[in-house]
Amino acid sequence: MSLSFSINGQPVRTALTSDTPLLWVIRDELDLKGTKYGCGIGQCGACTVHIDGVAARSCITPVGAIKNKTITTIEGLDGDGEHKLQTAWIEAQAPQCGYCQSGQIMQAASLLKSYPQPTDAQIDQVMNGNLCRCMAYVRIRKAIKIAATSLPSSSQQLSDQHPTQASIKSSISSTGSKV
Ligand code: FES
Ligand code: FES
Repeated sequence: MSLSFSINGQPVRTALTSDTPLLWVIRDELDLKGTKYGCGIGQCGACTVHIDGVAARSCITPVGAIKNKTITTIEGLDGDGEHKLQTAWIEAQAPQCGYCQSGQIMQAASLLKSYPQPTDAQIDQVMNGNLCRCMAYVRIRKAIKIAATSLPSSSQQLSDQHPTQASIKSSISSTGSKV
């Protein structure tokens, strides 16, 4: 069986079995190494990408669930690596070892779509599942706030229903994941 979808604006076809984790396709087939493997069970957020614009854990998303969908990885967030979050991350000197950071930025990008001017509580709610063993959480929050200042102050809060960790796991489970 062959599956079609797009990654970072490029059409992709894979002949891998439908239960193969999306993360394997991203890292091993497409050689996009920015997306990291952490826990492999949907608990750390290192593998976060966007599926149709919403943050998702690629380690527990089977490729069979992304047929004809649009995937964005950290490499595709901005072609020049100058997304407002990426420049804010530099300004805030957010990373320490860096391993979790692409997942953090992808989750934050999804956060800002729902909450262009996020409160501390909204940041905590949405970023809660992205773990950082270096404990860079204060700098990550600062970077998100810096990025938010580049958005119009009149931006509406687009949704009060941003996917939480529980709903992410629930939706992925409904696609047939073994988690
Ligand atoms: S590698 Fe930890 S959530 Fe995917
Ligand atoms: S910066 Fe090291 S794990 Fe987050």
